[in-house]
Amino acid sequence: MKLNQEINRRRTFGIISHPDAGKTTLTEKLLLFGGAIQEAGAVKNNKIKKGATSDFMEIERQRGISVATSVLGFEYKNIKINILDTPGHKDFAEDTFRTLTAVDSVIVVIDVAKGVEEQTEKLVEVCRMRKIPMIVFINKLDREGKDAFELLDEIEQKLNLHVTPLSFPIGMGYDFKGIYNTWEKNVNLFTGDPRKDIEETIEISDLKNPDLDQLIGESAAETLREELELTDGVYPEFNREDYVKGDLQPVFFGSALNNFGVRELLDCFVEIAPSPLPKMSDSREVKPTEDEFTGFVFKIHANMDPKHRDRLAFVKIVSGKFERNKPYLHVRHGKKLKFSSPNAFFAEKKQIVDEMFPGDIVGLHDTGNFKIGDTLTQGEELNYRGIPNFSPEHFRYINNADPMKSKQLNKGISQLMDEGVAQLFTLDLNGRKIIGTVGALQYEVIQYRLEHEYGAKCSYENINVHKACWIEPEDEKNDEFKEFKRVKSKYLARDKQNQMVFLADSVFSLQMTQQKYPSIKFHFTSEY
Ligand code: G4P
Repeated sequence: MKLNQEINRRRTFGIISHPDAGKTTLTEKLLLFGGAIQEAGAVKNNKIKKGATSDFMEIERQRGISVATSVLGFEYKNIKINILDTPGHKDFAEDTFRTLTAVDSVIVVIDVAKGVEEQTEKLVEVCRMRKIPMIVFINKLDREGKDAFELLDEIEQKLNLHVTPLSFPIGMGYDFKGIYNTWEKNVNLFTGDPRKDIEETIEISDLKNPDLDQLIGESAAETLREELELTDGVYPEFNREDYVKGDLQPVFFGSALNNFGVRELLDCFVEIAPSPLPKMSDSREVKPTEDEFTGFVFKIHANMDPKHRDRLAFVKIVSGKFERNKPYLHVRHGKKLKFSSPNAFFAEKKQIVDEMFPGDIVGLHDTGNFKIGDTLTQGEELNYRGIPNFSPEHFRYINNADPMKSKQLNKGISQLMDEGVAQLFTLDLNGRKIIGTVGALQYEVIQYRLEHEYGAKCSYENINVHKACWIEPEDEKNDEFKEFKRVKSKYLARDKQNQMVFLADSVFSLQMTQQKYPSIKFHFTSEY
């Protein structure tokens, strides 16, 4: 009974956006509503302004000491909300994709002036394919921006979503008067005072009510009536079932900086957003209400604090109750582990707790047992799927720059790869190591961390690789595969799981190879 209650009152979600749309500001305002923080400015902005490594290191250092920013938990109206941090910077997109495997819904933030941007498109596509329920928040209404209808069109077309506005702006920018909330049927007037955390809303359940003309002026009231009539005709009526299935996305308008429209968003969110959902494993679907605990690692965070070198593995609880000091099966290693100090995450801090429930994220101290995607259970041998590796965009040889420290270097590389910082490929031919990454920034990060955390030094050397493809032969023993291995031996490598990978040096050579060996499948992700 208690398990059910705890599950029903949990909402675990991520906020996604292109950098600068207002994710950090919105997160902070949500925490203010939850009473989790007292003042603005408490949430560290973790974005990388100019793509500088020094920025990243500084952020990592701060985060290492306060890793709680990766998961922000708070309570609102007796609902336990967990916000999972998703980096907006494109070099860390993979981190975000992995985090999206642990959310039950998302809020998409869009800048009213810039509309749909590149990162929004990529991240929304992932959510759409996974059918993750999404709410859209159009931000910065205090500034001049695009027309509301134009934006809704753009969202439908570029993001391939079916939207329905649950609020509608009255004017914009200099002329911004407020928001009509169709969900709550009230008007919220904009005062531009960000310190006001409780907004005064005026109930207008019937749009014909002359009070509306009094409130916002006759001409604005007339425009609003026309516009709402139009939205009624064009957009489907909201229904929760479609939203939860990922087939309908409600839209809210507001200004995070001015704390305007945020309360409405949050109130609707806690009402409609799903509590933890069942999850597929390689053997069966697991329901959150099952008695036995299961969970999976979606993120590993290095502890940059030199006094505490261990890492923190972030585990999303899928089913049952997680208990401190109880032995759980690490399925990949086939051994039982006990955790004496599991962490729960609150707004600005982490804290050791005795029990946690589905939807929660538990932080486990780790000395190198975990890698991303690992499953923990009470004994059942099942694995959660859905955290594949994608072919990296950049490739470089990694060399040992201090022969006395080769052990440290190997350990460092291995652990950083388990954290998902980059991917390692070892050439069949000569055993040379190649690091593949999503962004160029990661190379500096790896170099810095190898030196500061493992005392090892490395250097890089260019290599001409266009894509890494995971190889699946129809039959390992057929002549075609034997010939492929012989002719292409120079281009064959192993990933960390010892899966065979073909490193194609150009689009052309990849196409030629595919044509020449039709019985072999070339995959662009490690899970096929
Ligand atoms: P991000 O996490 O999505 O990258 O965005 P963030 O919240 O950091 O917001 C990016 C910039 O947009 C910030 O300004 C922030 O103050 C501003 N902003 C957020 N919401 C609103 C809004 O509703 N209206 C207006 N006018 N601006 C908004 P900045 O100058 O880059 O940073 P800061 O110096 O103010 O922190």
